[in-house]
Amino acid sequence: APSPAPSPWAVSDPGVPAHRKVGVVGAGGVGTAIAYATLIRGVAREVALYDIDEPKVRAEVLDLAHGTPFTSADAMTGGADPAVLAEAEIVVVTAGAKQKPGQTRLDLAERNVAILHDLLPRVQAAAPDALIVLVTNPVDVLTLVAQRITGLPAGRVIGSGTLLDTSRLRWLLAGRAGVHTSSVHASILGEHGDTEFPAWSSARIGPMPILEWPDAAAPLFSLADLDAIAHTVTNAAYEVIQGKGATTYAVGVATTRLLEAVLRDQHAILPVSTVLDGPHGLHDVALSLPAVVGRAGVERVIPLELDAAETAKLQASAAALRATAARFGF
Ligand code: 2OP
Repeated sequence: APSPAPSPWAVSDPGVPAHRKVGVVGAGGVGTAIAYATLIRGVAREVALYDIDEPKVRAEVLDLAHGTPFTSADAMTGGADPAVLAEAEIVVVTAGAKQKPGQTRLDLAERNVAILHDLLPRVQAAAPDALIVLVTNPVDVLTLVAQRITGLPAGRVIGSGTLLDTSRLRWLLAGRAGVHTSSVHASILGEHGDTEFPAWSSARIGPMPILEWPDAAAPLFSLADLDAIAHTVTNAAYEVIQGKGATTYAVGVATTRLLEAVLRDQHAILPVSTVLDGPHGLHDVALSLPAVVGRAGVERVIPLELDAAETAKLQASAAALRATAARFGF
């Protein structure tokens, strides 16, 4: 049979496989924001949305599909049968309970661990080769739980982790320094939650260590400033949840950035959550450290040097996450 003519899209991006499909589980505010960002950023050619609520998922798929003529995507599909996920290269899990005002992410563990036990075998039956991306909270606990339930290699189960918190940090620092966010090199590490911390010892604005910006004689950022910025980042989601009931848009684009690194095999360094086996002496816990992300998933974790205070915070984060996971037998 003659091979189909290449689409204009394939011509403009010849280095990628013909069909890239992302499955998204959960048609709530986060799942639909990820689907929307993925469509408009041209990261996948097909997005499939799966939710057990048939009328809701049908409406969301239609609403998203109606916009695809203005995107480079070929198809927006979905439904209430997990079979819609078939042949997805990545399945993103957003299903589950979300925080109510005043709740922490860890408060959601019991309910959302139970959802994963039920959901993941069905996802794997539909899309056995898919890499799994966890977004549901507590994302680090669920990344460990998902890796254990699926038995996938650690690098094939990725939590969105502190990618979003890092985005919040870069946005705040860029505004303060008066430079573009792409020139801010600073990460939030550890738990995506209350024990997270900024790795200030390695933070830079352009080539400058952050405490020397704009020069050593008159630093723009005092240690007190940096503490206040870190506090704002850690509490950013609470502020948004208080006002609108959930966070959606930023997590949508942050997750899409992660999908792009995988589908375009970018070997990009992103702070994402992965089950650790060695770095900083950590094992059997998932949390965020800078990691190289490409088509295989997390290819390796970068052995970033931390100072003594940061190391203590990383260990405290790991201890909090381990204690929560242990409550559910993980
Ligand atoms: C966020 O940080 C609530 O984890 C969610 O936006």
